[in-house]
Amino acid sequence: MSFKIVRKDDLDSIDYLVEVEAKEVADRFVPGQFVMLMTKKEGERVPMSVMKAEDGKISMFIRKLGKTSKELRKNLDKFEAVIGPLGQGVKIKKYGTVVVVSDAVCGHAENYAICKALKKIDGNHIISIQTFPSAKEVYPESYLAKEYADEYILVAEDGTLGEDRNYLDVLNKLIKNDIKIDFIFGGGKLPTLKKISSFMEKYNIPNLLTVRQIMVDGSGMCGACRLFYNDEMKLACIDGPMFDGRYVDWDTAIKRYGMFKREERVADLDYTCKNNGGCKSWQK
Ligand SMILES: Cc1cc2nc3c(=O)[nH]c(=O)nc-3n(C[C@H](O)[C@H](O)[C@H](O)COP(=O)(O)OP(=O)(O)OC[C@H]3O[C@@H](n4cnc5c(N)ncnc54)[C@H](O)[C@@H]3O)c2cc1C
Ligand code: FES
Repeated sequence: MSFKIVRKDDLDSIDYLVEVEAKEVADRFVPGQFVMLMTKKEGERVPMSVMKAEDGKISMFIRKLGKTSKELRKNLDKFEAVIGPLGQGVKIKKYGTVVVVSDAVCGHAENYAICKALKKIDGNHIISIQTFPSAKEVYPESYLAKEYADEYILVAEDGTLGEDRNYLDVLNKLIKNDIKIDFIFGGGKLPTLKKISSFMEKYNIPNLLTVRQIMVDGSGMCGACRLFYNDEMKLACIDGPMFDGRYVDWDTAIKRYGMFKREERVADLDYTCKNNGGCKSWQK
């Protein structure tokens, strides 16, 4: 069985949207969950957050980082497998004032899915903060959580959208203006999440943040995605991927996520060379 890709659109210079037919996944999806994608039968499994699940299809924002994500943008019209939905979804209920944040690297898929689901519940006041590298790199309007948020704030890291450079700047302003934040959902690079977790500890705000860890099987068998949470070992693929950041051992999580940087770089260079007529120098 294969899964047909029905849409691939570039969103900015490195991100693209992929929409794929995957009815069983779409019917059971809860925001915060992810899927494992396989581009070939013998290939690796790639974890990916789901942005939208509708009409038997799921959509994902994918960033061209290395071999698989580049190959997928260029060549593929189907997936060999779309496994999921995996992990724990978030509870869709009344939270009060909820802030949903994403940084310039990750979290936009969860931001969209969570805002959309929480909007349906009375009593939620949703503030969405989405960060982009610059005003020029903002996704097209229809892929933003703007549609579902009561307040929507766009931030550019280079200052082209106002004085705030990241979501922590905005959160600090909200607190300064006496806004009581009842809950925060968020995604971002692990070092960014570590910083925001100190903020949440300081103001005692419950939260759920997507903690990306290297995943191999996505089903709790290999142990690759383990992290320490409240002094206990957890598996990001089964117990997460969203955790209350106040209890995550961020230093260990950051170290583990960077464990295969060298191998990933080699695979990327190999792929880039093969697709550019060969280049021998780096292999020597
Ligand atoms: C729960 C979860 C949700 C994710 N959601 C998204 C998303 O919505 N959009 C998106 O673009 N990416 C997402 N990722 C990251 C995505 O899995 C990697 O970008 C992808 O595996 C890159 O593969 P590559 O071969 O193109 O690049 P590589 O060169 O192999 O890797 C580039 C970088 O991607 C990360 N990565 C690589 N392999 C894995 C792996 N097996 N598990 C986790 N991270 C890996 C590492 O940070 C690595 O440095 C998510 C990861 C997790 C764990
Ligand atoms: S990815 Fe293997 S246990 Fe989580």
